[in-house]
Amino acid sequence: MIKIIEAKALELGILVSGRGSNFEALHEAILRGDLKANIALLISDNEKALALSKAAAKGIKAIYINPKKYQNKTAYEEEILAYLQSYNIDLVVLAGYMRILGPSVLEAYPHRVLNIHPSLLPSFPGLEAQKQALDYGVKYSGCTVHLVDEGLDSGPIIKQAVVELREGDDLESLSLRILEQEHKSYWQAIQYMAEGRVFLQGRKIIVAEK
Ligand code: GRF
Repeated sequence: MIKIIEAKALELGILVSGRGSNFEALHEAILRGDLKANIALLISDNEKALALSKAAAKGIKAIYINPKKYQNKTAYEEEILAYLQSYNIDLVVLAGYMRILGPSVLEAYPHRVLNIHPSLLPSFPGLEAQKQALDYGVKYSGCTVHLVDEGLDSGPIIKQAVVELREGDDLESLSLRILEQEHKSYWQAIQYMAEGRVFLQGRKIIVAEK
């Protein structure tokens, strides 16, 4: 059994591509004192991401790294890694980051890259998870916080929350209820890490009792 990280106030590096509501929810959890962590850095691969201005307005270092400026994915990700390391990041948090991470960051942060996905994995990985759930006709969906591996939404699961589908749900209503659960689940999963309670056994995550 591997202990993922010793108990400590975690320095977080957040990777985003878009609106940044999960980032904001983490920031609020930190301000409330529920999450013992510090958002040291936010990196976006999209210059227009709302998350960039939201972070800057909160006084958080926010950087746009243009993937097109680099010769290949490895060079781009090595730039991300250089930033993460220079800010002494303990945990890399993907929050609506729309790319699949390659080995540079994953190898430098073994079991220390987290993602949140808007379905109950392993159902509906990939894009438009909420639409996939609606189209399939499931009665329950939700969100999943998991460790990132090199696959698509395939890493060990830390936490899930269930959302029941309602008659007449559409993409907007379902996505909104799932998002509410995302905003509660992500900080909790990271707080388990900050408390040094998260262990990996095979592909299973065990969260030890307090
Ligand atoms: C969320 O639904 C998250 O689960 C998915 O991307 C979306 C990001 O939303 N990975 P936001 O940028 O955090 O508002």
